Amino acid sequence: MAASTSNAASRPRILTGDTPTHTGLHLGHWVGSLENRVRLQDEYDCFFLLANMHAYTTLAEEPARIRANTLGILRDWLAAGIDPDRSTIVLQTEIPAIAELTWFFAMLLPFNRVMGNPTIKTEIELKNLGDTYSFGFPMYAVGQCADILAFRPELVPVGEDQEAHIEMCRAVAGKFNQVYCGVGNRVPPEEHVKAGGVFPVPKAKLGRVSRLIGIDGVNKMSKSLGNAIFLFDSAAEVKKKVGKIFTGRQSPTEPGKPDNVLMQFCDAFLPAARAAELRDKYVRGDNIGDGHIKMELTDAINVLLEPMRQRRAKLETAEGEAMLVDLLKVHTRRANAVAEETLAMAKKAMKLDYFPRSLGF
Ligand code: TRP
Repeated sequence: MAASTSNAASRPRILTGDTPTHTGLHLGHWVGSLENRVRLQDEYDCFFLLANMHAYTTLAEEPARIRANTLGILRDWLAAGIDPDRSTIVLQTEIPAIAELTWFFAMLLPFNRVMGNPTIKTEIELKNLGDTYSFGFPMYAVGQCADILAFRPELVPVGEDQEAHIEMCRAVAGKFNQVYCGVGNRVPPEEHVKAGGVFPVPKAKLGRVSRLIGIDGVNKMSKSLGNAIFLFDSAAEVKKKVGKIFTGRQSPTEPGKPDNVLMQFCDAFLPAARAAELRDKYVRGDNIGDGHIKMELTDAINVLLEPMRQRRAKLETAEGEAMLVDLLKVHTRRANAVAEETLAMAKKAMKLDYFPRSLGF
């Protein structure tokens, strides 16, 4: 394993996160990112960000909803297997270094680059924001660079839709290192820290399945399209939803399409060898009905989700909520220790190291 660029003595770092504009993680989130996060906790020092400030870009007038969603996502994470003893939860609004770095980074990015960011453009379209979105809305893309770089991670596990943001983050890190740390513009990104840069130039890490299709068999799985299987659907709901998948196939002997929705689900949720075996029979129409495959899929999905449902139930109680807030408090301290260290390094490079400061909590 490569030595950490941030602290050679410890595990290399990861940062990623979710925006609490909604709760209700689904299987698309699982295979696209969450599964990766849970697994990476062994090898990496992980920081998982609740991007609650970003939720204000579109929900500024609904603070109660943002708060409920923030705690909701934290519950989902813990239930899904994020381990607070090994990983650090970052509550964005309590990490002042993120907001401060956002300002400085905003000066290093051309305005048109932010506005031309394909993820921002798509979001404006998909969410029908027209030309009424707030000044702060496109700012979140700059803020996201600060979310990441405040923790100086090597990797950022994200879905495909976030790649443009990671690209921008890499650009900002590189530019900062060149402008303020004297890193030459021919130094390759992976060597910026060695060459004196404050920021490692982080890489995106895509999940196993970057685009899981929904049960409608047409669109990407998404809460708003009503084609999602949620991580906290009951076993019976999972069965019902998988049952609804429609392939248009008439009989067990009709050759099936190798990449239809059912086959994509097999790839995502069955062991690779079993998925290959099923596909082989399926495309030949070798007496294998959709119903049979659906049963096998339902079982596999329920085996995956059952431990999550059990952990989730424990977190739903009133004591559960107090426990979450306590956890956030402890983790905020941990997160600020790292982010403040980064900010001090950045300010030093920017000749802003007039005197040291401490947050006092
Ligand atoms: N924009 C991301 C999303 O909507 C959430 C996010 C905020 C994030 N800051 C981040 C993801 C930093 C990775 C790294 O999914």
